[in-house]
Amino acid sequence: MAGYLVEDTRKVTTHRLTEMKQQGKKIAMLTAYDYTMAQIVDGAGVDVILIGDSASNVMAGNATTLPITVDQMIYHAKSVVRGVQRALVVCDMPFGSYQVNASEGITNAIRIMKEAHCDALKLEGGEEIIETVRTILAAGIPVCGHLGLTPQSINKFGTYAVRAREEAEAEKLVHDAHLLAEAGCFAIVLEKIPAALTERVCREVEIPIIGIGGGPADGQVLVLHDMLGMNKGFSPKFLRRYADLNTIMTDAIGQYVSDVKSGDFPNEQEKY
Ligand code: KIV
Repeated sequence: MAGYLVEDTRKVTTHRLTEMKQQGKKIAMLTAYDYTMAQIVDGAGVDVILIGDSASNVMAGNATTLPITVDQMIYHAKSVVRGVQRALVVCDMPFGSYQVNASEGITNAIRIMKEAHCDALKLEGGEEIIETVRTILAAGIPVCGHLGLTPQSINKFGTYAVRAREEAEAEKLVHDAHLLAEAGCFAIVLEKIPAALTERVCREVEIPIIGIGGGPADGQVLVLHDMLGMNKGFSPKFLRRYADLNTIMTDAIGQYVSDVKSGDFPNEQEKY
């Protein structure tokens, strides 16, 4: 496996992520939803691959993450796991699979782990779901928290604007981060919050903090399709585009259409 900037080619574990924070080494995390993309992301040296429930948006075309089901997340997660050798593979628990109570949460968590063979799960929320988080952790399943802009609560927020600008919400977020860390979560994703608040949580909490739209942290995560520029319409301030795949793919496919229609494809060498 090639791997850009990969010093340690061993399989990434939650323990390794803790060491990386302690050693001041940054954690690179990206989403993936299928086998082929997961192979590329893993081969490029990403430390953590998230089967995000953003699959609901980028793979299925839904407006929110709410519709995606446990069955659909398991399908995506199984495909990703088959393509990964080194990265830690984390699967989102979808909306409705853990909010009812700890008993339903642990049942769905065990099902995802058994069927998808991923390494860990991610849940959105703090104090409201802490009993469920504790129950899942007690079953030996590593949990990553997710605070700040939690897209499964978009109907409560009413907007995808930056969260925790006000003191009360910021203090609750810090309290929740401590609760999740004390419960035994191995990391927390902080989405779309002021950079100063991310910096405070990174300093106060011992576990790795992974930012998305939250400024510098112990690591960063982005949605793969967004950072590759596949999704032309989505360009928030925090997003850095590393490619313009939308243009590259449209040009390539357009050229194919033109070659088929003109009779240029297939040529003498491209037939048996
Ligand atoms: O679903 C997702 O892709 C996520 C990331 C934005 C962190 O949760």
